[in-house]
Amino acid sequence: MGGRDATMVLLDENGIRCDGRKVDEPRKIMIKAGGLKNADGSSYIEFGDNKILVGVFGPRDVHPKHMSNTDTGILRVRYHMEPFSVGERKRPAPSRREIEISKVIKEALEPAVMLEKFPRTAVDVFIEVLQADGGTRCAALTAASVALADAGIPMRDMVAAIASGKVADTIILDVNNEEDQAGQADMPVGYMPSLKKITLLQLDGVLTPEEYKKCVDVGVKGCELVYELQKQALHDKYFGNRKD
Ligand code: CDP
Repeated sequence: MGGRDATMVLLDENGIRCDGRKVDEPRKIMIKAGGLKNADGSSYIEFGDNKILVGVFGPRDVHPKHMSNTDTGILRVRYHMEPFSVGERKRPAPSRREIEISKVIKEALEPAVMLEKFPRTAVDVFIEVLQADGGTRCAALTAASVALADAGIPMRDMVAAIASGKVADTIILDVNNEEDQAGQADMPVGYMPSLKKITLLQLDGVLTPEEYKKCVDVGVKGCELVYELQKQALHDKYFGNRKD
C-alpha cells in the first residue's frame, strides 16, 4: 500500500483499470464444490489469478482433549500458502501473515457455523493457496464457506467475501495484486447476504468517512454477486449433471 510504484497507471482516462476491468467489475470467479475424496467437504476457487483449494474435516474428536469445549464445537482454520504460490518463493514455515489470516478467516466464519450443535468436537478447515494474486483471504473465505456447506455442517448462512478499495482517488471493486501494492486503500469485506451481516471488515489505507461508507457498500454488493456463484457451485454438485 502507499504508492510503491508511482509510475503505474491504475486507472486510465477512460476509467479502465490496469487489468482492463471497469471500476465496479470483479475479476473472473470460478467456484467448484467438492473434489477431494478424503475430505468431508471441499472446494476449489479461481478468483482472477488466485487459485485456492479448501478441505474440511469434521465434526471430529479434538486432540489434545483439553482443547475441546463441553458446551460447543470449535472451528480451527489453517491458511497456508505454497512456497510457489507467489513470485518470490515463500519460506515454507508458517509466517506471521499466514497465522493472522488463519485467525481472521476463522473469526469471519464463526458467526455462520452452528458450532453449538457439536459440543466437544472440532471442525477443521485447511486452506491451500496454490497461486496468489491479491485478495487471497477473501477468495479463501468464500471457498471455505462452500467447503463447509459441502461437508454438511449446519450453517446460518454462507459468508461471501471480496475486497473493495481505492485507486487514483476512485472506489473500486475487487482489488488485484498491483492495486493492492500501488493503490490507496484495500478493504476486505466478508458478508452473509441472507442474514445481512458483515463478519469481516479490514482496512489497509486511508479513506474519508464518505469513501469509507462507499467502500463498505461496494464491498457488500460485490459479496452479493459472489454469493450467487457459491450457491451455483453447490447446486451444480448436488443437483447438476456433474459426473464426479
Ligand atoms: O492476499 P490478501 O490480499 O488477502 O493479503 P495481503 O497480505 O494483502 O497480500 C496481498 C498479496 O500479496 C497476496 O495475495 C499475494 O499475491 C502477495 N504476497 C506475496 O507476493 N508474497 C507473500 N509472501 C505474501 C503475499
